Amino acid sequence: MRKQIVAGNWKMNNDLTETEVLIAELKRQNKTSNAEVMIAPVFTNLYHAYEALRKDNIEVVAQNMHYDNNGAYTGEVSANMLKCVGVNTVILGHSERRAYFNENDEALAKKVDAALDHDMRVIFCFGEELNDRKSDNHFNIVESQIKNALFHLEDKDWNSIVLAYEPVWAIGTGETATPEQAQEMHAFIRQTIEEKYGNNIAQSVSILYGGSVKPNNAKEIFTKPDVDGGLIGGASLKAEDFFAIVNAF
Ligand code: 13P
Repeated sequence: MRKQIVAGNWKMNNDLTETEVLIAELKRQNKTSNAEVMIAPVFTNLYHAYEALRKDNIEVVAQNMHYDNNGAYTGEVSANMLKCVGVNTVILGHSERRAYFNENDEALAKKVDAALDHDMRVIFCFGEELNDRKSDNHFNIVESQIKNALFHLEDKDWNSIVLAYEPVWAIGTGETATPEQAQEMHAFIRQTIEEKYGNNIAQSVSILYGGSVKPNNAKEIFTKPDVDGGLIGGASLKAEDFFAIVNAF
């Protein structure tokens, strides 16, 4: 049985006070759900969030990290630093990191390795831009993003990998992929994994969908057989909306 996961990517939102308020609200609304629930606050609030949610079934995860352990990388944070503050999962390869911070497949492959070396779980994001879809190149793009950053991994590493398909044209735009488009791509992703790693690994890896998931469309998307959850941006900033999505499972 694949894990179902709903993760809130807060991006660069919520200062310390806002984080406290939102976490208090999340704690009030939290109940047992079928999905694993995660939130990804900014670096500066990770430890506070971890402490505040220690006894709750909401995991605190990071939005990024560097691939080296330490050194002259001004402004960066490493895997062991995240682990020290209770973070065991990291989002890597988000399209905003790729677009605004020039993260490429090669750097992402190193980040994935560093996370796995530190026994961290990775939520690995990828997805095509609108032009790619319009020119019918979306499957090729997604395939190369996965292959270039992940196909050097060994079978055992896949226990620690969660995939997140986020078509760039659907992020923050209010335009979601249709449930059929999501299913079509998720099935393609699973088949791509199967061709290299076999059926067991392909069937056990969770593939999340991200891009304008809201309370009113979550259920339709999550009922698709190859969609195992969601990576939620805007709607994760309101506890009520976030839990409406979590409870769509
Ligand atoms: P939105 O849900 O705001 O479209 O963002 C999706 C996303 O980028 C999650 O990582």
